[in-house]
Amino acid sequence: MPGGCSGSPSTGDGRLRLARLALVLLGWVSSSSPASSELSLFSAVSTQPPLGYCPPPCECSEAARTVKCVNRNLTVVPADLPLYVRNLFLTGNQLAVLPAGAFARRPPLAELAALNISGSRLEEVRAGAFEHLPSLRQLDLSHNPLADLSPFAFSGSNASVSTPSPLVELMLNHIVPPADEQQNRSFEGMVAAALRAGQALRGLRRLELASNHFLYLPRDVLAYLPGLRHLDLRNNSLVSLTYVSFRNLTDLESLHLEDNALKVLHNDTLAELQGLPHVRVFLDNNPWVCDCHMTDMVAWLQETEVVQGKARLTCAFPEEMRDRVLLQLSSSDLDCDPILPPSLQTSYVFLGIVLALIGAIFLLVLYLNRKGIKKWMHNIRDACRDHMEGYHYRYEINADPRLTNLSSNSDV
Ligand SMILES: *[C@@H]1O[C@H](CO)[C@@H](O)[C@H](O)[C@H]1NC(C)=O
Ligand SMILES: *[C@@H]1O[C@H](CO)[C@@H](O)[C@H](O)[C@H]1NC(C)=O
Ligand SMILES: *[C@@H]1O[C@H](CO)[C@@H](O)[C@H](O)[C@H]1NC(C)=O
Ligand SMILES: *[C@@H]1O[C@H](CO)[C@@H](O)[C@H](O)[C@H]1NC(C)=O
Ligand SMILES: *[C@@H]1O[C@H](CO)[C@@H](O)[C@H](O)[C@H]1NC(C)=O
Ligand SMILES: *[C@@H]1O[C@H](CO)[C@@H](O)[C@H](O)[C@H]1NC(C)=O
Ligand SMILES: *[C@@H]1O[C@H](CO)[C@@H](O)[C@H](O)[C@H]1NC(C)=O
Repeated sequence: MPGGCSGSPSTGDGRLRLARLALVLLGWVSSSSPASSELSLFSAVSTQPPLGYCPPPCECSEAARTVKCVNRNLTVVPADLPLYVRNLFLTGNQLAVLPAGAFARRPPLAELAALNISGSRLEEVRAGAFEHLPSLRQLDLSHNPLADLSPFAFSGSNASVSTPSPLVELMLNHIVPPADEQQNRSFEGMVAAALRAGQALRGLRRLELASNHFLYLPRDVLAYLPGLRHLDLRNNSLVSLTYVSFRNLTDLESLHLEDNALKVLHNDTLAELQGLPHVRVFLDNNPWVCDCHMTDMVAWLQETEVVQGKARLTCAFPEEMRDRVLLQLSSSDLDCDPILPPSLQTSYVFLGIVLALIGAIFLLVLYLNRKGIKKWMHNIRDACRDHMEGYHYRYEINADPRLTNLSSNSDV
């Protein structure tokens, strides 16, 4: 490989010179012998940067094929990463922006399989940021306030071409930015767009989205991730799974939904989960509401093997059901009768008591005045009788045709 070392930093170290000599020899051997994977690796190393070189802010171990540039306040990805790097740690820096082709090198970092950029204050990941990393299987972007994640972050900078991503594991835990830094769009929608784009992540097997304040899971995001085996949605704010479909995730092995805001799982979701052949579902620490809508889920829990630690699930509401174990509830425990909240119920009971008291007092007054009332009744009866008699008398007079004219004349 002529000129392979021309751009290396000059050092007076004899050992390095020796290493370079060995490198040139090896390169010559590899280029003059039939290509094998072992030798083509060496020939790759023989180009810039040279063997044994490590960028100043990093620690490199060629034996472990690992480069660590950790807690160095780096603002850009080092340009001259050794080509052998398989595991790259860029954690605890201040990268802020990851531009298109941030890891694209000539020749490419063909071995890079695991890239960890967690906790590096990333706010923006642009389209094609991970382009030209043909072996990248694991990417950890957790603990970055990602206010701006391009829809094409994982697919490619050329939106009109769908490039399948080699990613198998993607960690996006706690990437929610502070509320005041969120753009004018839903954070869930932004993440979902990046997971959907160009169906690039069809090979993804592990997806971690814990601690992101997700209120909902965008409708069809899982449809574009058909190979998922592990999905972690722990510590979000999911209230319902009604609009999410797990039906096509036939390889799903674990589904983490602990520490969300789930109230109940409905029949459709229960049937979908039951239909997945290998799945284990984790549902601890959700505020389950134990009313009549919980009946189906309780019946399902009693039968299913899908839920891990199902005996730990307890009701959070209504008040009188708090901490009751879901598995031990029967359908008679689960009713929707108390439509009124408990505070209102007690005030209605109070109102009833007051009305009953008023009624009782009224009856008592009547009873104590029974003599007066009797007298009063007699008076009324007498008055009535007098009146009736008078009426009777007039009626009889009027009924006599001979007297009719008389009376009408006297009226005039
Ligand atoms: C990184 O920055 C922090 C605060 O700005 C400082 O305390 C720390 O020493 C810096 N670390 C390095 C390796 O420069
Ligand atoms: C990435 O680095 C962070 C911080 O060191 C660590 O906690 C995390 O487990 C690493 N991610 C992976 C996938 O190993
Ligand atoms: C994107 O890819 C298409 C098809 O290969 C090509 O015609 C177009 O020029 C590319 N666009 C950019 C911006 O590279
Ligand atoms: C947010 O978007 C809405 C409509 O989509 C628009 O009316 C509003 O002005 C936007 N706000 C900001 C701060 O951009
Ligand atoms: C849960 O998420 C919140 C906000 O995203 C975070 O502050 C908290 O540390 C997380 N808790 C755990 C146990 O991870
Ligand atoms: C599930 O897969 C079937 C067939 O493979 C397809 O027709 C259907 O649209 C998929 N459903 C979802 C929600 O992705
Ligand atoms: C849910 O399914 C069970 C059994 O398949 C059925 O008895 C029940 O009526 C269904 N519940 C609703 C609300 O459809």
